[in-house]
Amino acid sequence: MSREPEVVITAYPDGPYLVRGAYRIVDEDGNEIGLTRRTVALCRCGRSGQKPWCDSSHKLSNFRTPAKTPRSSLPHKKDDPGGRPGLL
Ligand code: FES
Repeated sequence: MSREPEVVITAYPDGPYLVRGAYRIVDEDGNEIGLTRRTVALCRCGRSGQKPWCDSSHKLSNFRTPAKTPRSSLPHKKDDPGGRPGLL
């Protein structure tokens, strides 16, 4: 039995989401965006000129994130309020 390759997404403080591991990124039509890097940075501030990638515009705009997101504030699936956080 093989194990799924692990993908780790890290919310970088005051910056992008860093995606590491055996990820796949697809466009809105489901076409895979071919990448050779093991780590990519996805824009979280909304100001990148190269979305979905981070182009460091967050630094110029002084983007700030909350210190920590409390688990209790994460959204739950509407029909399963006791379900896993973050699944809508
Ligand atoms: S998070 Fe870096 S440009 Fe948006």
